[in-house]
Amino acid sequence: MQTISITDYAHWREIVRGLIHSEISPQHVQLLEANGQQSLFGDADLPSPTAAQTRSTTFRVPPKFLSLAETIACHRSGSRWNLLYRTLWRILHEHRSLLEIETDDDVLQLTKMEKQIRRDAHKMKAFVRFRRVEQGGEEFFIAWHQPDHRILRRVAPFFSRRFKGMNWTILTPDESVSWDQTSLTWGQGVPRHEAPAFDQLEDLWRTYYANIFNPARVKVKMMKSEMPVRFWKTLPEAEIIAALLADAPRRVDEMVEKHEGFAETAADLITARLTPPLTLSALRELARECTACSLHCDATQTVFGIGPEQARIVLLGEQPGDQEDLAGKSFVGPAGELLQEAAEAAGLRLSECYVTNVVKHFKFKLTEAPALGRQPRGKRRLHQKPDAREIRACRPWFEAELSCLPEAQVLICLGATALNAVAGPGTRIHDRRGRIFSTRHSQQTIATWHPAAILRSPDTIRDTKRQQLIDDLKLAVDTVFA
Ligand code: URA
Repeated sequence: MQTISITDYAHWREIVRGLIHSEISPQHVQLLEANGQQSLFGDADLPSPTAAQTRSTTFRVPPKFLSLAETIACHRSGSRWNLLYRTLWRILHEHRSLLEIETDDDVLQLTKMEKQIRRDAHKMKAFVRFRRVEQGGEEFFIAWHQPDHRILRRVAPFFSRRFKGMNWTILTPDESVSWDQTSLTWGQGVPRHEAPAFDQLEDLWRTYYANIFNPARVKVKMMKSEMPVRFWKTLPEAEIIAALLADAPRRVDEMVEKHEGFAETAADLITARLTPPLTLSALRELARECTACSLHCDATQTVFGIGPEQARIVLLGEQPGDQEDLAGKSFVGPAGELLQEAAEAAGLRLSECYVTNVVKHFKFKLTEAPALGRQPRGKRRLHQKPDAREIRACRPWFEAELSCLPEAQVLICLGATALNAVAGPGTRIHDRRGRIFSTRHSQQTIATWHPAAILRSPDTIRDTKRQQLIDDLKLAVDTVFA
């Protein structure tokens, strides 16, 4: 058995190329963390492939694996290099689509690790706090943060976009990074006791936090899980949490609006990774990586919109439900069945429409539920409404989807969340349904009941609402095809 110390992802790729070229299977090699030592590639006695050999043994790796491997490389687990090599070997020798087999042990393990990285990156974006430092008349901002995984290189570009016009440094125990308004420079890690104690920025952060903090919506338990105690020591706002908890509720949308500059949205990812003209397929692919809000942490996958680029009617729902989250496709559950029935009754072919949601990840809470029909007693994922911050974070996806639908003439909002996302908070279906009105997203917008809301309605009004849904869909058909 050979043992090779791996220093980083680039090194792993180089080593693995050699291993595959030499046909050394994962059972005959141990890839270990280098622990800051030099690469031991030479010690392993592996034949380095010559350029000609490399050409003759060129192998194609699915792009999905490469991007997954790059993510997993950030994980703290010492077993990741072996796990990645074993998975790659199996992709090349056993099953090209191995990553699609969600029940496979290696795939399960990788998926779990990938989620941990994403969650950690999300927390870093949310909890890094800069402190202002003056040096030689110049202003710098410094933050110290302790991520669970080695994610600084993944997350630093986010900070350079968000705080483009500032000189800043983020210190972590692993490494540090500085931004001089032009480029990122990498340096040594810094233990916590060496992190700067300057706190001139703390008052500003306190004000900021006090403004975005909405005690009406805070559940202390959830707040603690979202903001682990480990982070509290670097957060000045922790001191005022108790006071804020006792304070009066505030209007959250207004606050989010006011502080939009601070909140991450999907637009950050879209503008960083895609250049116009956008396409639906590029958006769909990129949306799989979205971490603009925390819903991605618990959802199974991003559920992106579906339909032809020439669609003339766009249907906008709220968010994927339980079944949609598992299937990766919108409106496949009970609400989807009712929508399909209503569309048929209205003479609308859903397959010719573009169907999407305001929020692309399933938001739920786990509850203990009694047996229901054929479902046994046990934990259920109970749908929860997305909040203003999640809608704001996700809405750029919908806006980008719309920009890729040149023939779209009518936008149908299914339910209040969709309507509020396009016509502003507080707009009611009851007041808007049954007619065409203009919004900033479409000159011909129609609002109607969400099929899930119809299913939940009392028997006495369910049929009326179902008929109104049909009438509203028919209005769209008449507008477009008359
Ligand atoms: N409800 C929605 O709003 N969208 C779906 O995709 C499913 C249920």
